[in-house]
Amino acid sequence: MLILDSGVGGLSVLKNIKKNLPKINYVYMLDNEAFPYGNKTEWFILQRSIKIINTIKKIYPITIVVIACNTVSTVALSILRNKFNLPIIGIFPAIETAEKITKNKIIGLIATQATINSFYTKNKIQKNSSNTIKIISTNKLALIAEKKIRGTTVSQIQLKNIFKPWINLSICPDTVILGCTHFSLLREEIKKILCVKSSIYFIDSINIITYQVKNYLNQSEIKLNIKKNIFLYSKKNDNFKKLLVFLKKYQFEIIEYINLN
Ligand code: DGL
Repeated sequence: MLILDSGVGGLSVLKNIKKNLPKINYVYMLDNEAFPYGNKTEWFILQRSIKIINTIKKIYPITIVVIACNTVSTVALSILRNKFNLPIIGIFPAIETAEKITKNKIIGLIATQATINSFYTKNKIQKNSSNTIKIISTNKLALIAEKKIRGTTVSQIQLKNIFKPWINLSICPDTVILGCTHFSLLREEIKKILCVKSSIYFIDSINIITYQVKNYLNQSEIKLNIKKNIFLYSKKNDNFKKLLVFLKKYQFEIIEYINLN
């Protein structure tokens, strides 16, 4: 199984997959060279994910791909599925789930710029007629999550600035979609900023993608041939080294640089 993200966001998906499918081995690809994906063009995101899958496929016997990134999934999943003869499972902002849950009919959606601008997301928003969807499109929050994981305290001021459009509303969303896997790592900090006046229901689709992976593996005859838990990264630098402490708890047996150029 290949699990792919631009950064640490996908580790929140991996954590849940490990919990539900403890016997499975995986290759985790952290594309830190191209992080963040959120400010890239759709063409770049598509080409980059094709490159990653092709490169890794040649080295490791992957038989299923989990795109643990809303940005890649919303922009490129359908094209990737057509291109590769492999099952590919993605993660998407759970707009339909939020529609079922909201009581005050105000939904908050926060995601990267590329996710918000994607045809997938625009189409889902357009189809929603009975609720108001308040959108925050940001590429800054994923970076804050990356820094938190490396030990930097999350700045309340920076968070307040990002969430200002909702903080200033007279009626806040009662249901918030965390439409980027990085944001799940900031759930507690986001709660503190937003849930001042009332409680908010947060949805991040991580249970949904895990369920889909589990379901797929139960139903298919697919063989999982990876024998170790492997972590790959695409850029060697000091910022990557700072991540090693956090990675310890995931118990990867191999941590290796991969050249994607
Ligand atoms: N974790 C990613 C997502 O779910 C991407 C963040 C980024 O690279 O901008 O969208």
